[in-house]
Amino acid sequence: MKQPVIQTERLSKNYAADGVQTHVLSNIDLALYDGDFTVIMGPSGSGKSTLLYCLSGMDTPTAGDVRFRGSSIAGLRERDMAEVRAQHFGFVFQQAHLVSNLTLFENVAVPGYLKAGRTSAETRAVAQALIERMGLAPDARHLPSQTSGGQQQRCAVARSVVNDPALVFADEPTGALNRANTLEVLALLVELNERGQTICMVTHDVFCAVRANRILYLEDGAIVGELELPTWPSDADAALVKAREAQVNAWLSSLSW
Ligand SMILES: Nc1ncnc2c1ncn2[C@@H]1O[C@H](COP(=O)(O)OP(=O)(O)OP(=O)(O)O)[C@@H](O)[C@H]1O
Ligand SMILES: [Mg+2]
Repeated sequence: MKQPVIQTERLSKNYAADGVQTHVLSNIDLALYDGDFTVIMGPSGSGKSTLLYCLSGMDTPTAGDVRFRGSSIAGLRERDMAEVRAQHFGFVFQQAHLVSNLTLFENVAVPGYLKAGRTSAETRAVAQALIERMGLAPDARHLPSQTSGGQQQRCAVARSVVNDPALVFADEPTGALNRANTLEVLALLVELNERGQTICMVTHDVFCAVRANRILYLEDGAIVGELELPTWPSDADAALVKAREAQVNAWLSSLSW
C-alpha cells in the first residue's frame, strides 16, 4: 500500500486586490504518494503553479492544511519551512535559474551542503555522481553561460535531487526546451522515478504527461479529473508513446480540455 508523502485538507488559496478576493484554489483534498510520478494538467490560470507552490511550502495557503509525512507544514514559520524544503524537497522550474558565477558542478553541490548528516566530501561525491548521470561531466567546470539551455536544465534536475529529497516538484520543466532536450529531461525524471524518487510535475504537454502514472486535472482551482496509468516502462517505444497519448487525449477531451 502506497504511503502519502503530501496530503492536503481543504486547501484554499485566495488573493486579495483592491478589496476583491480571487479564489485560486478551493478546498482541495489531495494526496501525493511515495514513488508516484504525478502530473498536474489544466488550462492556463487554473491554479497549477499555485497548487505546486502550496504543496511544497513555497507559498502559504489561505485556509486548510498541507501535511508532509503526517506533520502539518502549512503554518510553519518561514525559517522552519525553508529547513523542510532544504532537507526534503527538490525543485525544477521552467528556467534553470542556475547561479551564474558558479560552475555546473558547484550549482549541483552547493545546495547539497545543507543536507543534514553528510560530510562535504560525501556531498561532493553525490554531486559528481549526479553530474555524470546527467551526462554533464565534460561541462562540469563550465559556467552556465558557457552551456546550452538543455545542459542548464539537466543541471537543474541534478541540483533538485542532490539532497536525496522525498519529493521533486517540477513546474513545466521542459516548457522552454526544444524536443530533443525535452526528451532528455523527461528521460532523467523517469529514471529518477524508476529509482524510487517521487515526482510531481506540472505540464501542458501531453507528450510529457504520458510518463506519469497518475494525472490530475485542475480547473478553476479544483481537481475535476484523475487518470491512473500503468508505470511508464523503461523500454517504451514510439508505438507506446502514441497509444498513451491517444488515451490521455481522449481523457482530456472528456474534460473539455
Ligand atoms: N501573486 C498573485 N496575486 C494575484 N493573483 C495571482 C497571483 N499568483 C497567481 N495569481 C492568479 O491565480 C490564478 C492561477 O495562477 P497560476 O499561476 O497558479 O496558474 P497556472 O495554472 O499555473 O497557469 P499557467 O498554465 O499559465 O502557468 C491566475 O488567475 C493568476 O492570475
Ligand atoms: Mg503555471
